[in-house]
Amino acid sequence: MPELKKEPKEKVTVGDEVFIPLLTEDQIQKRIAELGEEIRKDYQGSVPVFIGVLNGSFIFMSDLIKCVELDCEIDFFKLSSYGDEKLSSGKVKMLKELNCDVDGRDIIIVEDIVDSGLSIKYIEELFDEKNPKSMKVISLLVKPESLKYNVKIDYIGFNIPSQFVIGYGLDYSQKYRNLRSIYVLRDETSIERPLQTKE
Ligand code: PRP
Repeated sequence: MPELKKEPKEKVTVGDEVFIPLLTEDQIQKRIAELGEEIRKDYQGSVPVFIGVLNGSFIFMSDLIKCVELDCEIDFFKLSSYGDEKLSSGKVKMLKELNCDVDGRDIIIVEDIVDSGLSIKYIEELFDEKNPKSMKVISLLVKPESLKYNVKIDYIGFNIPSQFVIGYGLDYSQKYRNLRSIYVLRDETSIERPLQTKE
């Protein structure tokens, strides 16, 4: 049996960069339990569809739906990942489409992090056309100081500073998503890095 650790690693080293704990596994799980209960109360009598935005949201979504004591369904879709095109042009591409029909359904979009808000803005417009009964957005993390678009996040796990974070679904060059806690780049406060751009 693998050891179940509740304490985060003291640090995570990537090349010459050092990441230190920002949110522990315990803090994350406790907050998810609260969010799950809030959603249960809000969706009494409904069978909501949780729609995860790949890749980052998959761990959060998995833990979240276990904390929502309601019948529910799930689906996923994938947008273009961070890259120069997205940052400079403000455009988002669909890389993997949704499978389910959301017409007339209560849908909850699940994100790991909202940074500039561009993805959510795109998603709002996209799903508006699909005619759901209702649409809400949940994000484990939000960087309020990085928001460039006027978007509404209905359920927020944690507001965090505009610093680069990894773990619990969040990657650095596609790695470190499997860390149980969330880590932040140490000494980053002086560095101008408004968006999650590390590739
Ligand atoms: C991240 C995150 C959000 C988006 C947030 O995904 O999961 O979907 O960026 O940024 P925004 O608010 O500025 O649009 P990313 O494109 O890095 O892909 P990933 O989930 O596969 O890591």
